[in-house]
Amino acid sequence: MSGYEARFRVWRGDEHGGELRDFTVAVNEGEVVLDIVHRLQATQAPDLAVRWNCKAGKCGSCSAEVNGRPRLMCMTRMSVFDRAETVTITPLRAFPVIRDLVTDVSFNYEKARGIPAFVPPPELAPGEYRMFQRDVDRSQEFRKCIECFLCQDTCHVVRDHEENKRAFAGPRFLMRVAELDMHPLDAAERSGLDRRRTAQDEHGLGYCNITKCCTEVCPEGIRITDNALIPLKERVVDRRYDPLVWLGSKIKRRSS
Ligand code: SF4
Ligand code: SF4
Ligand code: FES
Repeated sequence: MSGYEARFRVWRGDEHGGELRDFTVAVNEGEVVLDIVHRLQATQAPDLAVRWNCKAGKCGSCSAEVNGRPRLMCMTRMSVFDRAETVTITPLRAFPVIRDLVTDVSFNYEKARGIPAFVPPPELAPGEYRMFQRDVDRSQEFRKCIECFLCQDTCHVVRDHEENKRAFAGPRFLMRVAELDMHPLDAAERSGLDRRRTAQDEHGLGYCNITKCCTEVCPEGIRITDNALIPLKERVVDRRYDPLVWLGSKIKRRSS
C-alpha cells in the first residue's frame, strides 16, 4: 500500500476558545495518528501543542478525541479510517483546555490524593505477606492502568456535568478504591477506615449506572465495570443491608 494525502481537522485554541482548522497531511503506510500530528507540527503548524512521551501506549500522555472517540493517538492506526474520511482530532472534552490538544488533567490528581493508600497489616513484616493467586491476579489487572484518563473523559457523569466533578471520583479512582477494598491484606478497616463507606459517600459510587463506557475505551483492556465497579457496588450493598452487619454496627455505635 502506498502513501496518500489525508484530510485532518484539528482543534486549535486555548482556555478562552478556539476552532477546528483544516489541514491536508501526507500519510505513510503503518502510521498512527500521533505520526500525523508530528508531521503537521514539522511542516505546517510548528506551534501546535500536543502531549506525548512514549509513542508505545504506555505513558498515557497522548490521550485525545479522534472523530469524537477518546483514544491514545499513538495507538490509533490511520488504517482504521477510510482514506476519504476527514479525521478530526480534539482535546479531551471532560477537562479544561490549556492549549490545542493539551488539557489540564489535575482533576484526576486531586481525586487520586483523596484515596488513602494500602494499610499494611501490623502483625506481618514485609516479606511475610501471603495471598492466593486469584487475589494477586485481580490486583494485577487494575495495576495495568497507565493513567491515560480516557475512562475519566468518557464517563457521562462528568463529561457533560462539570457540577458532578466535586462529588464523583470517576471510574479510574473508584477502581482504585475497589482494588484496595478487595485486597485481602489491607488493614484499613482495622485502622478505622471504611473504604466501602468512602466509596459511596466521598467518591460518588452511586452516580455510576454501570453503562460500561469506561471499559470500552480503556486501552489496557481493563474490565473496569465488571471487575471493579460492580463488585464494589455489591460490597457496599452487602455492608448496608446485611442484617448481621447492620446489628453489629448498631451495637458498636452504642458501646462507643
Ligand atoms: S460504568 Fe460507571 S464509571 Fe463507567 S462510564 Fe458508566 S457511569 Fe461512568
Ligand atoms: S483504567 Fe484504562 S482508561 Fe482508565 S486511566 Fe487506566 S488505562 Fe486509562
Ligand atoms: S505517547 Fe505514551 S501512550 Fe501515547
